[in-house]
Amino acid sequence: APAASLDGVILRALESADIADSRCWADEQGVSHDDVEREMNSLESEGYITKTLNQTLFWELTPAGEEAVAQGSPELVILKALPAEEAAAQADVKAKVGDDVFKGGLGIAKKNGWVEIEKGTGNIVRKADPAAVEDKTASLLKGLSDALDAKTLKELKRRKLIAQGKRTAWTLGKGASYAVERRRTAADLTAAMLADGSWRDTTFKPYNFDAEGTVPACGVEHTLLKVRTEFRRVLFEMGFAEMPTSRFVESCFWNFDALFQPQSHPARDAHDTFFVSKPGVARHVPEDYCERVKTVHQTGGYGSRGYGTVWERSEADKLILRTHTTAVSSRMLYELANQEGGFTPKKYFSIDRVFRNETLDATHLAEFHQVEGVVADYGLGLADLIGTIRDFFRRIGITNLRFKPAYNPYTEPSMEVFGYHPDLKCWTEIGNSGIFRPEMLAPMGLPEGVRVIAWGLSLERPTMIKYRYSNIRDLFGHKVQVAASKSTPIVRF
Ligand code: PHE
Repeated sequence: APAASLDGVILRALESADIADSRCWADEQGVSHDDVEREMNSLESEGYITKTLNQTLFWELTPAGEEAVAQGSPELVILKALPAEEAAAQADVKAKVGDDVFKGGLGIAKKNGWVEIEKGTGNIVRKADPAAVEDKTASLLKGLSDALDAKTLKELKRRKLIAQGKRTAWTLGKGASYAVERRRTAADLTAAMLADGSWRDTTFKPYNFDAEGTVPACGVEHTLLKVRTEFRRVLFEMGFAEMPTSRFVESCFWNFDALFQPQSHPARDAHDTFFVSKPGVARHVPEDYCERVKTVHQTGGYGSRGYGTVWERSEADKLILRTHTTAVSSRMLYELANQEGGFTPKKYFSIDRVFRNETLDATHLAEFHQVEGVVADYGLGLADLIGTIRDFFRRIGITNLRFKPAYNPYTEPSMEVFGYHPDLKCWTEIGNSGIFRPEMLAPMGLPEGVRVIAWGLSLERPTMIKYRYSNIRDLFGHKVQVAASKSTPIVRF
């Protein structure tokens, strides 16, 4: 026959009388108290039994205390270690009895008048016969009980010879749903129970609402991607469509020339931009559009005088790692102007990686991410730009904004955006923006009257502020701790 299960033994024992002390009972039964505890918790949760906690505090010997009972107190051990005739050097005695005994016993041995310390040499002199003295400490420890007076107990505790222990046991009694036989309980309602009607007579386990969920063993998004996810949600909510950004290598044409950035501009230098050597030149740019870009740079048009400098096609054809996502915006605006059926108003955004030949430090990386928004429609103005930017930043929790005039080759007017940061308690630059110039939009073929407003910001900066990173290298690159990605909250805005 199978051995009686422990829960059954408990229930049968309770039939005649309460179990006064679960620990004594476990000893009697020859089972571990941990097992009894597990079963009684389960029986209690189903109402079979009640349990009441009994806790008692008591004094017990520490290992040093046990040692003192067996070998004599530290002070006696020291006394015994001393030669009868001559003084002993402290270091010798210490080496003989051990550090702990020496430290724990010397003071008491002196107080008892068993030893004296020689002036000058510091040597220890024996002043009593170890066979004749009474080892009071050892006797106290042998007779250790709560009955000893509080002062003595405190002193023994200070000497780390005794420590307080805690005994936890339970008194068990019959519960409201007590029965000698435990009914099998089901954890789940199954299709079979419904089909054969057995659910009617089944007792179900109560649902444990306090149980902790298991942590799923799964990958997590990188901290930056969590913030990207939130920016995307915000921009989708505002009615923006995502631009295709899977083009890290870009031609100077789309990254600079289409944006009316002069070929002499310092940003187009190898000091600031990564040039690609293989292949080094772009295979395709729209030829007629390229001609119009050349003209607007050299001689102007659309009410502009242009830069009046020579524009080289070979410069435009050079391949680079894109320095900003505005390169994607220029491609998209060109497509929008030339799409079938002609221009229609659009709101676009992108969030992706850009590259700059930066000196690396705690706040600068050579590759980072930009968030960019673009709205193209008839008759837009500065108020639309400011309003859109306010709306966007309000949705990510930054409500206090200031705008400062700035310069970009492709926007006029241009504004840097400053936000009052409630976490950092200061004004900090959070973005750049502007209205794209006619010299950029008109050669693309966008209808007259169409205005395009745009703004951009880095993904790293708000992430560092929100998640309190002070070094960008902890956020991006080979020094990132995977554990940090796991523990950062999913939602911040
Ligand atoms: N491209 C700019 C930058 O890299 C940001 C910007 C985007 C400015 C759109 C104006 C308009 O900083």
